Amino acid sequence: MDSPATFALYGLGAAAAVASFVKVKARLELSRAKHRSLAGHARLARRVAALVPYYEYDEARFFCSDGAPDEVVARRHAAFARLAELYRARFARTAALSAEAKESISDLQFTEAYRVPFQYREAVRANLPVGAFMASSAGVTLTDLDGNRFYDLTGSYGVNLFGNDFYKECLEAGLAQARDLGPVLGPYHPVIAENVKRLREISGLDEVSFHMSGTEAVMQAVRLARYHTGRRRLVRFTGAYHGWWGDVQPGVGNPLPARDTYTLKEMSEDTLRVLRRRRDIACVLVNPLQALHPNAGPAADSSLVDGGGAARFDRAAYADWLKRLRVVCSERNIVLIFDEVFVGFRIAPGGAQEYFGVKADLVTYGKTLGGGLPVGVVCGRKELMKRFRDDRPADVCFARGTFNSHPYVMTAMHEFLTALKRQDVRALYQGLDQRWNARADDLNRRFADEELPVRVANLSSIWTVCYTAPSRYNWMLQYYLRAEGLALSWIGTGRLIFSLNYSEADFEAVAERFLAAARAMRADGWFWAPHGATNKSIRRRILREMIAHRLFPRRA
Ligand SMILES: Cc1ncc(COP(=O)(O)O)c(C=O)c1O
Repeated sequence: MDSPATFALYGLGAAAAVASFVKVKARLELSRAKHRSLAGHARLARRVAALVPYYEYDEARFFCSDGAPDEVVARRHAAFARLAELYRARFARTAALSAEAKESISDLQFTEAYRVPFQYREAVRANLPVGAFMASSAGVTLTDLDGNRFYDLTGSYGVNLFGNDFYKECLEAGLAQARDLGPVLGPYHPVIAENVKRLREISGLDEVSFHMSGTEAVMQAVRLARYHTGRRRLVRFTGAYHGWWGDVQPGVGNPLPARDTYTLKEMSEDTLRVLRRRRDIACVLVNPLQALHPNAGPAADSSLVDGGGAARFDRAAYADWLKRLRVVCSERNIVLIFDEVFVGFRIAPGGAQEYFGVKADLVTYGKTLGGGLPVGVVCGRKELMKRFRDDRPADVCFARGTFNSHPYVMTAMHEFLTALKRQDVRALYQGLDQRWNARADDLNRRFADEELPVRVANLSSIWTVCYTAPSRYNWMLQYYLRAEGLALSWIGTGRLIFSLNYSEADFEAVAERFLAAARAMRADGWFWAPHGATNKSIRRRILREMIAHRLFPRRA
């Protein structure tokens, strides 16, 4: 007969088995909620990235990396020389100062190195220098040091919502208003009271904190969520950018693993299941810009090795997703954070909350809100914003920052927030989506009519270029666009940001230049692809190249 001790052992064994079953099940659910791409597997992505060898194409291979016939290669060769000559002549002063500055500005070295797939990098860098300087801005244009005028499609990383002249006015008026107090830090400039009132109205939330960048606002929102829930884990979605703080940037780009971050699939039942079951999740961080390309990073020409990814914005589907997410977060006391640093004020005066009809617990803003100066803001529910506990005085959630309520930033912000109420500014929001959708549709129709393999997808005034045919040279389009007088940010055709003051005539000028650039690309042979080529076949070919260079660096 079994002794009581044996029964106790059986009992313990059974409990251990149940506990490990529950653990394994939770682990499996978490795995299922990860996107199947590398971007959904941060640790694996870092390991794979570490294996990618550097190699570059010699002059001959540069033009025929896809096995193009001699006639196409000759056209590409001649076009490249012509474009290089145009860049040399037209951008001489701007390029010279950029080359000098690059020697000692690490940021420039980085952006320069990541404009095109690395195999083509050196030849492009030597022949098609992109200037790092502009001398002036007016209307929707920028002028470089050589006097070339470009239509501004950079949108100053999203800051430029109403046109550069608008921000110049905010800055000048803000400067005048802050002059008496000057750069005094610690005591507030009185406009802060008004800013807080407006931000509470706009966000529909109770309290506000000021920071110096969007990255810091996100850091603080997540820290508050952890403090108040007593949980560690943060959920972010595949491909979403939330600034460069380590916890929101697991995977490539961050030398350390982000151990408390779960990167999950967006618009997925599997993710909701994880949120419903786990007890360690403090917050879910949403970047509503991802609605344009859920579960993928922003397209960038540096990784445009084939036809590139698809993008399509479905407002109703994304709103439905956010609503379901809201319900689960409320049920589980998970803090729902909308990171509106990019889309705030751009898609509606009340941002993504208004646009998608979903309330968040905490919202981060930045970029355009500073009226042209750097800023980050967190708005939140009262109980989540509190940084100390009445009953435990030593238990605090610390957040400071020397420049966090700088008088000049606050007065420029005040100008921005005051302008939002103006009739002419309100008018820009009228029919906003219809206007930008119609412009995108019109351009796409013209691409289709001319059988050009280029399309655009848009979330209101935020656009991305897609390619309907696989080619190893789609990244070249950025250089044709610049030659046509369109200014792009360093990720090139991956993101075009329009300011809302683009008139029909301005837009038509951009559309014509786009078409001209795409026509020239085709005439010069860059859209040529081998019969039957697919994105998959191109990627397989590149993978074989990489393996060869990794295993036999001398022979490859
Ligand atoms: C959604 C989002 N969050 C955070 C940030 C970081 O803001 P900042 O560059 O001001 O630190 C960005 C910047 O692009 C962003 O787009």
